Amino acid sequence: MSLFRKKSIEHLLAGAHRTGLRKSLGALDLTFLGVGAIIGTGIFVLTGTGAVQAGPALMIAFIIAAIACCFAALAYAEFSSTIPVAGSIYTYSYATLGELAAWIIGWDLMLEYGLATSAVSVGWSGYLQSLLSGFGISLPMALTAAPGAVPGHFTVFNLPAFLVIMAITALLSVGVRESTRVNNLMVAIKVTVVLLVIVVGVFHVTPANWQPFMPNGWSGVFGAAAVMFFAFIGFDSVSSAAEEVKDPKRDLPIGIISSLAVCAVLYVAVAAVVTGIVPSPQFANVSHPVSYALQVVGQNWVAGFIDLGAVLGMLTVILVMSYGQTRVIYAMSRDGLLPARLSKVHPRFATPFFTTWLVGICFGLIGALVPLNVLAELINIGTLAAFCMVSIAVLVLRRTHPALPRAFRCPGVPLVPVLAVASCLFLMINLQATTWIAFVVWLVIGLVIYFGYSRGNSKLGRGIH
Ligand code: ALA
Repeated sequence: MSLFRKKSIEHLLAGAHRTGLRKSLGALDLTFLGVGAIIGTGIFVLTGTGAVQAGPALMIAFIIAAIACCFAALAYAEFSSTIPVAGSIYTYSYATLGELAAWIIGWDLMLEYGLATSAVSVGWSGYLQSLLSGFGISLPMALTAAPGAVPGHFTVFNLPAFLVIMAITALLSVGVRESTRVNNLMVAIKVTVVLLVIVVGVFHVTPANWQPFMPNGWSGVFGAAAVMFFAFIGFDSVSSAAEEVKDPKRDLPIGIISSLAVCAVLYVAVAAVVTGIVPSPQFANVSHPVSYALQVVGQNWVAGFIDLGAVLGMLTVILVMSYGQTRVIYAMSRDGLLPARLSKVHPRFATPFFTTWLVGICFGLIGALVPLNVLAELINIGTLAAFCMVSIAVLVLRRTHPALPRAFRCPGVPLVPVLAVASCLFLMINLQATTWIAFVVWLVIGLVIYFGYSRGNSKLGRGIH
């Protein structure tokens, strides 16, 4: 039964008020943190892949993915407003589903946040190279991509991807307040660029390009939805910041839901515009599809601004993902499930300094050495699995702690959490078999660590709170 030992919720709530982390974030900061985490490689790079797969029905694929996220977001918001402590759904599930489930969720979140950091750095590198080529600058081919990422070319190491993660890591390691300010500025730039794509692009749309609307039928649309789900990942990282929020009960639900809504509207509009400008099959093998669409219609200046905006804007995604990752590890370490060193807070910067650098170097190397398409599907499956579990947890908590004050209550319980589980499972089924195999391997490694280390060292298990 020790596998199902649970943290006391009352204890968690009391603990939320006495941590070493600085409380500096408000609702608007959180919305910016959310949008900063969400808009990135998904819309700027994977849109091309999605358009080839679904055709103009990419718009529908985005809506399907957004609906799945929305159900999960509602469950998330209830949790984050009830138990505002660091570590996102890892902590929430520790109090509801028990230690083993919490471990599995924490382990899945490492796929999400960690690999997303790497994946976005690869997308960033692609847009940087497109931007530089506009000035006639090109890097040595070997240092532009992971081994095997560009068919027919000898590539060894994605140097820009590695360096950008190192720069972001340096920023994060010296404190949240500083990096949040930078984040807010970047988000403003990114949203402006996306609006620019829509406003300029709409005048170049040829409605004939929207035919055939669904060239690969519904299977193409569902497959694209499973991949484009990536474009929405990140809204949940808002809840990872819980311990650093000034008024979590009010600010967290607002932050999660508003950032998701803003992005869904923008994505559908971008999908409509780019598939209306360029016939969808033409996006095959284009690494910068959004700026490409505008180049095709001769808007080279606008395309240049998009490259620049994407390069600046994707920085925030890397920042928020790395941030989420360090806070999950921090929380797991604080509970004794990972070595104590990982939850040490820096005396001057009030950040988990050592963990931040460890994570940065590790996922920087992965970004430099692993191709984007491999990373994206793995991230999706890990995240979807975690979302299923949190939706189940919301139901469990309603039964076990019905009277607990909830600043935000998920509407339509049990229907909404059940629909969240169903829609996440549906997207998972539409991912490739190889992704499933890799996911199972990842879980097995996690279980080995849990039974080999974490179970015996768990503070809860040893009676230390
Ligand atoms: N949603 C994030 C992106 O699209 C991960 O880059």
